[in-house]
Amino acid sequence: MSEPHLYPVPSEWAKRAYVDDTAYQERYAASMRDPEAFWGEEGKRIDWFTPYTRVKNTSFAPGAVSIKWFEDGVTNIAHNCIDRHLATRGDQVAIIWEGDDPSESRHITYRELHDEVCRFANVLRNRDVGKGDRVTIYMPMIPEAAFAMLACARLGAVHSVVFGGFSPDSLAGRIVDCGSKVVITCDEGLRGGRKVPLKANVDAAIVKAGEDKVDHVIVVRRTGGNVAMKPGRDVWYHQAAEMVTSECPAVAVGAEDPLFILYTSGSTGSPKGVLHTTGGYLVYASMTHHYVFDYHDGDIYWCTADIGWVTGHSYIVYGPLANGATTLMFEGVPNYPSNSRFWEVIDKHKVTIFYTAPTAIRALMQGGDAPVSKTSRASLRLLGSVGEPINPEAWEWYYRVVGENRCPIVDTWWQTETGGILITPLPGATALKPGSATRPFFGVRPEIVDAEGTVLEGACEGNLVIADSWPGQMRTVYGDHERFMQTYFATYPNKYFTGDGCRRDADGYYWITGRVDDVINVSGHRMGTAEVESALVAHPKVSEAAVVGYPHDIKGQGIYAYVTLMAGEVETEDLRKELIVWVRTEIGPIASPDLIQFAPGLPKTRSGKIMRRILRKIAEDEFGNLGDTSTLADPAVVDDLVSNRQNKK
Ligand code: PRX
Repeated sequence: MSEPHLYPVPSEWAKRAYVDDTAYQERYAASMRDPEAFWGEEGKRIDWFTPYTRVKNTSFAPGAVSIKWFEDGVTNIAHNCIDRHLATRGDQVAIIWEGDDPSESRHITYRELHDEVCRFANVLRNRDVGKGDRVTIYMPMIPEAAFAMLACARLGAVHSVVFGGFSPDSLAGRIVDCGSKVVITCDEGLRGGRKVPLKANVDAAIVKAGEDKVDHVIVVRRTGGNVAMKPGRDVWYHQAAEMVTSECPAVAVGAEDPLFILYTSGSTGSPKGVLHTTGGYLVYASMTHHYVFDYHDGDIYWCTADIGWVTGHSYIVYGPLANGATTLMFEGVPNYPSNSRFWEVIDKHKVTIFYTAPTAIRALMQGGDAPVSKTSRASLRLLGSVGEPINPEAWEWYYRVVGENRCPIVDTWWQTETGGILITPLPGATALKPGSATRPFFGVRPEIVDAEGTVLEGACEGNLVIADSWPGQMRTVYGDHERFMQTYFATYPNKYFTGDGCRRDADGYYWITGRVDDVINVSGHRMGTAEVESALVAHPKVSEAAVVGYPHDIKGQGIYAYVTLMAGEVETEDLRKELIVWVRTEIGPIASPDLIQFAPGLPKTRSGKIMRRILRKIAEDEFGNLGDTSTLADPAVVDDLVSNRQNKK
C-alpha cells in the first residue's frame, strides 16, 4: 500500500489550539500512567453539588463487569448545561435552529433555554415523571426535542430518544423494553419539504405495544397538521406549558444514576438499550467536544446528526451545552431545496466548526464542486467526520473543496456504546492522513488483537479492543447486564470488544476497516443483519432470508437480502417491491434492502448453519474467491446464487 499524503498541522493551529503535539504526548502519557489522577482532575470541569471522593472503580473481569466513575459525586446535567452558564452567558445564544424551510430559523439564548426546559420539566412533573422514570422521545429536529431531553435530565428521569425514521413497530418495541409511561412527540415532522406522520406513528405504536403501556402522550405542534388526540392520554404541549411556571429546581442526581437509554443494533437479537449514566458521561462528552473541536468562545458549532443517534446526544446537546457553546440544530436534509443547503446554512449563521458524515459528503461530492464553490464558507475553520470510515477520495474533496485547503478534518471514531469520541485527531496536534482516525484521545487505551486474543504490537491489523475503561463508557444493557457482558466482554476477556476491525500503521495511526460482526453500516446508520432477516421472514410468503452488506458508492454499505420463498410462491418483480415496502414498514426506511435476490436455497453447512461468508463474497462480486464450499450440505446452491446475482446499483 502506498503511503498516504500527510497533512501537517498548520502552524497557526498549533499556536491557537488548546493542545499541540507536545501537549498531546505529555497528557496522553499522563492519562495512561495514572488514570485516577488524570480523571480526578478532569472531573472538575463540571459542577458537582457534592464533590466525588472516588474517581474510578471499574472492572472488565469475566462475569463481573462493573463500571463506575465519580460514584459518590452528586450533580445534575441540566444544571451543568444551563444554569451554571446563566451568570456569565445568559444572553448568549445556546441553540441556533435552522428549519427545513430556509426562511425559518430561531435563536435561543441560555436564559430562554432555562425557561423552556423548566417549563417542559414542570409539564412532565405534572404527569408524575420523576427520578428514574423512563420517557420516550420521538421527535424531529426542533429545539423542543433538546428541551425535552434536558427536562428529563433536570428531573433525573431517563430519556430514550427514538429516531423519527423508525416505524411504529420499532417504536413500540422500544417503548415496551424500557417501560416508559410517557411519550413525547410532534404532530408531524418536516424534512426536505415532506411531512412525517410522527403522532400517527405513535398512535399505531401504542396499539401495538398495548394501550395500557402508555399513560401520557405529549404532542408538540410543529406543522399544525390534523392529528387525532385521545382524551385523557394525549395533551398538546403548548397548552400544558401555559399551566406551569418557568421555575423548576434541578434534582440532585448521583453520578451513576442513569441519564439515557439509546437503542442500537448488534449482531444478534433485537436492538439493545445502551445505558449511559450521569457524571462520567458528561465529563467525557464535554471534554471531547472541547478538545476535538477546539471549541472557543465565539465559535458557531454545527453537527448535522439527528438527535435520534448518539452523535446528536453527545455533540449537539450535552457536550456543547456543558461547554456553554452555541450549537446549531438543523431540521432539514443536505439536498433541499438544493445541493448547496449545507454551505448556505454555514454562510447564513457564520458556522466555524462543521461536523457531518461521510455518506453526506459522498452524496454531495457527486453533485460536483459548483454547488459548494458558489458559497463563501469563509467562516469555517474546522471540519469533522463521523459514523463510518471515510474513503480518501471523499476526505480529499471535503478538505480541498469544502474547506479550501484551510481547515483540518477531525475523523472521529466512536460508537453509541462509547458515549464520546475515542480515536481522533486533535486539530492543533495531529498531522492528518486521509482515511485514518489517527490516535487515541486522552485516557483511551486501544489495542489490536488477533482472533485468539493475542495483543499485536507495532504495525498490524486485527480486531480493535479497548483495554481499560473511560468515563463515557456505557454501563450496561438496560435490564440485561448478562447480555452486556456477553456482547462486549466475552470475546476477549478483560477487554471491551468494539466489533470493528482495525489496522495500525508504523506511525501508530489507527485505520478502522469496518465491522467484523454481523452489523452493517448503511449511510452511517447501524443495522443488524438479523433484524432485517427477521422482518423478512415475518412476511407470509418468505420462508428464509439471509442479509449481508455490500460496498455502495454513497451509503458506504448497502443491504443485500437473499430470500427463499415458501413452496408454491412465485418470484416476481411485484413481490420484490412488496418485500422492500414490508421491511420499511416493519423497521423503517433506513432498513430498506437495496437488492433482493430470490434464492431457491441458501448455502448451509451440514448442521444447518448459513455460510454468510459465501453470501458476502457473492454480494461483493468476488466469485473467484468463494473459499471452500465442500462442507456445504448442497454445494450446487452456490452456482445458482452466482448466476442469479442482482446487479449492483
Ligand atoms: O464501525 C464503526 C463506525 O460506526 C460504528 C458505531 O456506530 P454507532 O454506534 O451508530 O455510532 C455512530 C456514531 C458514533 C463503529 O463501530 N464508525 C463510527 N465512526 C467511525 C466509524 N468507522 C470508521 N471511522 C469513523 N470515524
